[in-house]
Amino acid sequence: MKVLVTGGLGFIGSHTSVELQQAGHSVVIIDDCSNASESVLDGIVAITGIRPEFVRMDLRDKAAVRTFFQKHPDLGGVIHFAASKAVGESVEKPLLYYENNLCSLVYLLQELTARPEARFIFSSSCTVYGQADSLPITESAPVKPAESPYGNTKQVGEEIIRDTCAAHEGLQAISLRYFNPIGAHPSAEIGELPLGVPQNLVPYITQTAMGIRKELSVFGDDYPTEDGTCIRDYIHVVDLARAHVVALERLIAGDNSANYEVFNVGTGTGSSVMEVIQSFERESGRKLNYRVVGRRPGDVVAAYADTSRAREVLGWEALSTLDDAMRSAWAWEQKIRAL
Ligand code: WQD
Repeated sequence: MKVLVTGGLGFIGSHTSVELQQAGHSVVIIDDCSNASESVLDGIVAITGIRPEFVRMDLRDKAAVRTFFQKHPDLGGVIHFAASKAVGESVEKPLLYYENNLCSLVYLLQELTARPEARFIFSSSCTVYGQADSLPITESAPVKPAESPYGNTKQVGEEIIRDTCAAHEGLQAISLRYFNPIGAHPSAEIGELPLGVPQNLVPYITQTAMGIRKELSVFGDDYPTEDGTCIRDYIHVVDLARAHVVALERLIAGDNSANYEVFNVGTGTGSSVMEVIQSFERESGRKLNYRVVGRRPGDVVAAYADTSRAREVLGWEALSTLDDAMRSAWAWEQKIRAL
């Protein structure tokens, strides 16, 4: 089946494109290259031997989106990653985030609901839960007021899809609420390419070990956790990519129980910042240079997924461990610095 992957040159989009191809689907990527390079296509080809069709496009261009769908009447599904995703930047530039993340979503849905049937997978985030009242976090945990415009675009995005599915029974959609995606493809042909100073923990760790950053700042060790550092559910990006293929094939097979479903995608295991550092040191054989500093505003103390719905209903579960993910992240960092 031909599948549109928006943002397919990005971290999760490129890994999902690989898994889709390896599952026998043909992939067409739309990306505006604002946060990813077209050279990522070479990495995908290096793994699968199949070059995805690529269209450089800004999804805020409504006419271009319309023209694309007119040229691709045979699309079997859309997996929508394309969005701005820097939490801090979204606070400084909210309108950029609301326009880019929500207008593009509306234009895609307008095209999909003009067809008798359509399948849509949405890249959502555990950030919609904020600091959940209880752990592990289930899909029925309340959505909390967003801590950032970025997080709000995920919440509003889900509501837009929910309401559109209610009005259009031909639209079958699933929102996947990611926990913390980390690592890289084991081939080290694709991985995370953060622009500028990494905001996320794992790329900052690998860049510190590579000598690109002087030291990792650990944002607080006075939280009410075992070692005082925050806890997250770090999921290998390849496991996350495979969840998208499983979700799309659920819709293709008509196995979904409603035309809009939501699933948490995590490992179900919480790891502290110190545990991630220790995992990195084990897997790399390197001592990491870090310093504990003050808390980062907006950080929740702990977040990790209840994975029972993904396992029992979606039929998916993460297979890789934190050590697997840290080993792949380090191999990728070494590869890109050797180029
Ligand atoms: C993880 C932990 C930090 C950097 C974000 C987004 C979320 C999703 C995933 C898109 C926290 C600590 C971090 C550093 C540190 N993105 N940390 N030093 O904040 O859980 O989630 O990325 O959907 O929406 O909010 O991930 O990697 O930034 O932080 O100590 O230099 O690492 O305090 O406890 P986060 P993160």
